Amino acid sequence: MRKKIVAGNWKMNTTLPEGVALATEIDTKLRNRHEVSNKTVVIIGVPFTHIWEVGRSLAPKFSSVAAQNCAAEASGAYTGEVSAAMIASLGCNYVILGHSERRAYYGETDAILVKKVTRALENKLEVIFCVGEVLAEREANNHFEVVKSQLENGLFNLSKEEIAHIIIAYEPVWAIGTGKTATSAQAQEMHAFIRSTVANKYGKDVADNISILYGGSCNTQNAKELFLNPDVDGGLIGGASLKADDFVTLVDIRENV
Ligand code: 13P
Repeated sequence: MRKKIVAGNWKMNTTLPEGVALATEIDTKLRNRHEVSNKTVVIIGVPFTHIWEVGRSLAPKFSSVAAQNCAAEASGAYTGEVSAAMIASLGCNYVILGHSERRAYYGETDAILVKKVTRALENKLEVIFCVGEVLAEREANNHFEVVKSQLENGLFNLSKEEIAHIIIAYEPVWAIGTGKTATSAQAQEMHAFIRSTVANKYGKDVADNISILYGGSCNTQNAKELFLNPDVDGGLIGGASLKADDFVTLVDIRENV
């Protein structure tokens, strides 16, 4: 059966000492709360500079570290880029790709994302692949088409074996960092659509096993209602992942619904 997941995305926040302190606090709280029940996969997406040190501060039994991006090329003269192989060599098992901030501010197209996903899978990284529409697209009732095209053009070149290493995150752009979360019904509707789109391409078994996370102003107040939905397997958490108490509470909520 598919995994329940709570993933944090710290984005470009925290210095290294701050990040290590936050990770250590999260780890301590997870250990204290999860010695018995440990059903939820917990992932923490940190800046590249933090992967090694934060990774060493986390007990692998309780949580894992993720990168927030990787290069589209394998290696070579690409100044400032960080390759999937470099990330994997730090003992990191996950990478977030296709976040709307990267699509919007750094010109990441579907074609670039195809290359990044390929590099990640070549290096045995599990990919959290983000999709989601902007407000104008939802208001024009185009949100299903937009998400379908992001899936088809960014992921559906993968084989059945490869897609098993993808976690999909539905993040409506209008909900990110705005305090305006999707309603529980809007989230379920889109998650079910994503699952059926995956099923049409790869079959029901693959679709039933793929985890689909909701992201966008998910917090301790609204998570329960979101996570209760049958197709919402967890959350990709921005702001609330920077507060250890809130983040661990979100893990608890995921465990208990
Ligand atoms: P917020 O939870 O801050 O809205 O961010 C969501 C997000 O972008 C996670 O990747």
